[in-house]
Amino acid sequence: MNKDNKSNKEIKDLYKNYFNIGQVGLLDKFEFSKEKVLRAQGSFIYTESGEKILDLTSGFGTQNLGYNHPSILKERIEFASKEMMPFSRLFFNQSIALLSEKMALLLPGNLDYSFFCNSGAEANEGALKLAYKYHNGNRNLLIHNENSFHGKLIATSQITDSPEVYFDFQTSLETKCIDVTDIDLLKKTIEANSKNIYAIILEPFSASLAKPVEYEKLCLINDICKEEDIILIFDEVYSGFYRTSNLFYFMNEENLCPDIVTYSKSFGGGIASISGYTVDSKVFKKSYGSQKDALLHSSTYSNYVEEDKIALKTLEIFSDAEFIKQIHLKRDYLASKVENLTKLNNVNSLSGDGFHWGIGFEKVNLLNTDKLLKILPLEITKDPRFVEKLYVSAIINELYTKYKILTYAGFNKDIKLFISPPLVIENSDIDYFVDAFEDILDKQPLILIINFVKNYLLRIFNKD
Ligand SMILES: Cc1ncc(COP(=O)(O)O)c(C=O)c1O
Repeated sequence: MNKDNKSNKEIKDLYKNYFNIGQVGLLDKFEFSKEKVLRAQGSFIYTESGEKILDLTSGFGTQNLGYNHPSILKERIEFASKEMMPFSRLFFNQSIALLSEKMALLLPGNLDYSFFCNSGAEANEGALKLAYKYHNGNRNLLIHNENSFHGKLIATSQITDSPEVYFDFQTSLETKCIDVTDIDLLKKTIEANSKNIYAIILEPFSASLAKPVEYEKLCLINDICKEEDIILIFDEVYSGFYRTSNLFYFMNEENLCPDIVTYSKSFGGGIASISGYTVDSKVFKKSYGSQKDALLHSSTYSNYVEEDKIALKTLEIFSDAEFIKQIHLKRDYLASKVENLTKLNNVNSLSGDGFHWGIGFEKVNLLNTDKLLKILPLEITKDPRFVEKLYVSAIINELYTKYKILTYAGFNKDIKLFISPPLVIENSDIDYFVDAFEDILDKQPLILIINFVKNYLLRIFNKD
């Protein structure tokens, strides 16, 4: 076998020995773990075994434009063919200048100054540093929201409140986790920590719960922050770039403007690893406006010309009036279809916005099998939400094995199946998913779970 063309099994072995042994165990539970991906285009992934998979995960929010959007690919190829200078720190970088300007033009209020880095967590940590510097270290407390997800670096894992990120790593931030949307509680917390809170960070739309915060509450939080000179940071890492129903979720409400917004995922057009934050100009100038402070926050690749160019092209696409008109039509079509799913057996909730929807399910009663499972000497069966996780995993597996549809689930406070397609998905593909989902939910949960476990055992047995 050609050294550069490993089989899926060989790749798995390399993962086991050199990359991440536990991840192999996690992925192995699903049928897709036996497939090797050859290429991806639009809403579809093509595998070596000849399968065409409809991707309703959008590559975890990175593929809002669909895989390998032609204009983005063209930009990459052009960059390489012109032997452009990929890195520029001591020379002024036109791409970074234009990208910053474009962000300022697209964002409301005085959100004018941007910084670009490579991941959502990095963007959030950069925003936290800037917010802390704003009060010159005279305020020390950072407030974050219940059930939040802000990333997995040292500081961002501390302000992530999800059972998925359960381990307490050593940190140095002084933080408080409250239900930020409980306005009375927020006011009391501010009163009890008078002039000590430097920032509040929250997701206006939580992707891990597929749940928006009401605009009325966001506006109240915004007003309180302005009154108390607290920096308000909106984390739109997932919800940005029309994943929800606007460029950013908060932009649906005219009176709403945070001090800092953070973003990533589809900012790079599905190809470039780029993230960023944009800051109110007054806040930026106070924090980092002087020459002494100008480089307090930077990283080697934060000036990466090629990624900036791709992001600029992405923003061009996202500002095209016809493109926006089309995705709004698609958004409305998707909403009308997913709303009907609440009528199906075992579905007990639906929440979301735009192109990111979460479906919750009734608690499955497995005729006391769950009690039996708890006796098994397996760590995962002790998880109180084990059966719920098993059911949603069985649905994911059935969607994949029978219908070649890729979905994923979130195990934050609520367990939800996510429907998060690229914005370019065809209406007929939305219909195809809805029909498949209806067929699956017609089946007894126990049958789905048995299929899931059977598939898994067969794969282990066949060493796929
Ligand atoms: C809302 C939110 N914030 C931050 C992050 C972290 O982004 P990254 O994984 O790129 O560090 C994510 C990742 O999914 C996210 O959804």
